[in-house]
Amino acid sequence: MTNILVTGGAGYIGSHACKALKAAGYTPVTYDNLITGWADAVKFGPFEQGELTDRARLDQVFAAYNPAAVMHFAALSQVGDAMRLPEVYWHNNVAGSLTLMEAAVHAGCLDFVFSSTCATYGDQDNVVLDEDSAQYPVNAYGKSKRTIEDMLADFEFAHNLRHVIFRYFNVAGADPDGDVGEFHQPETHLVPLLLDAIDGKRAALTIFGSDYDTPDGTCIRDYVHVCDLVDAHVLGLKWLERGEDSRVFNLGTGAGFSVREVIGHAGAVTNRDVPVIEGPRRPGDCTKLVSGSSRAEAELGWTPTRSTMDRMIEDAWRWHRTGHYEK
Ligand code: UFG
Repeated sequence: MTNILVTGGAGYIGSHACKALKAAGYTPVTYDNLITGWADAVKFGPFEQGELTDRARLDQVFAAYNPAAVMHFAALSQVGDAMRLPEVYWHNNVAGSLTLMEAAVHAGCLDFVFSSTCATYGDQDNVVLDEDSAQYPVNAYGKSKRTIEDMLADFEFAHNLRHVIFRYFNVAGADPDGDVGEFHQPETHLVPLLLDAIDGKRAALTIFGSDYDTPDGTCIRDYVHVCDLVDAHVLGLKWLERGEDSRVFNLGTGAGFSVREVIGHAGAVTNRDVPVIEGPRRPGDCTKLVSGSSRAEAELGWTPTRSTMDRMIEDAWRWHRTGHYEK
């Protein structure tokens, strides 16, 4: 079986990717420091604990498994933290990714699939966000990811490290079989926080800002089901296997939902009241991030079949009531 090195394979998206890789006939080798990931989430292949910035450890893991490609999910990914602690983001995300890329080149593992973000586009009112849009990230998280994209371009030129970059919009939902799901501590993402408020695990959901220039005053995002998202990664891996050129793909559906609309869907799907309070804006948030591209569908053959808001909430709700991890 072909080994794929999956950094962040113990995290929310990485664990779903491991399941998809195994189903597609690969062996996912998880490399994770377990700072935000969970050993319990590593169910589909071997686990190696380590830091992205630990070159000697990475060299050992590359030598032991001889992976055919890297899928690089491991990152700190919270906009709020990134605004408070940019140095931590630059160190972990940028220095860590640089070390990983150097180790991959050293090992001759030259196919690289990278998790980037629509946060690299920044706040661009009335601009269709396709892959050729200018990138003006407004927070340290988005800036760290854009920098890694730049490094990948340079590494391709110099070292032939071929890459597929996926710019994620907002990821939600969970594995419908309940093997893995979203479990952050502390939780900061809208859908799991909403479900916490619905079942009384927290008093209420705070809406971060209701004075944005949008129809209902709350931020608009493009939500994609985690299982659809990781399917795209398997297609991206095959794209590189076929020898196609390095490429950037947005992963979103093009449908924008305001925070209030997501709350409305969550109430309807769960048939429960959603306790909500209105709070101030969260620093670093963009008004609207919606993908204007279907390149992934046209070129990769990606079909995001599960990414309706109701389906994402249904799957997240099922996991929310039955699944969790323990340290
Ligand atoms: N929100 C609230 N209340 C909350 C939590 C979130 O109103 O308690 C709002 C946010 O302000 C935002 C929306 O819900 O408007 C979504 O917030 P999330 O924190 O769930 O997601 P973000 O949009 O901030 O960020 C996520 C990922 C990033 C990624 C980004 C791209 O965390 O890694 O999507 O938009 F870059």
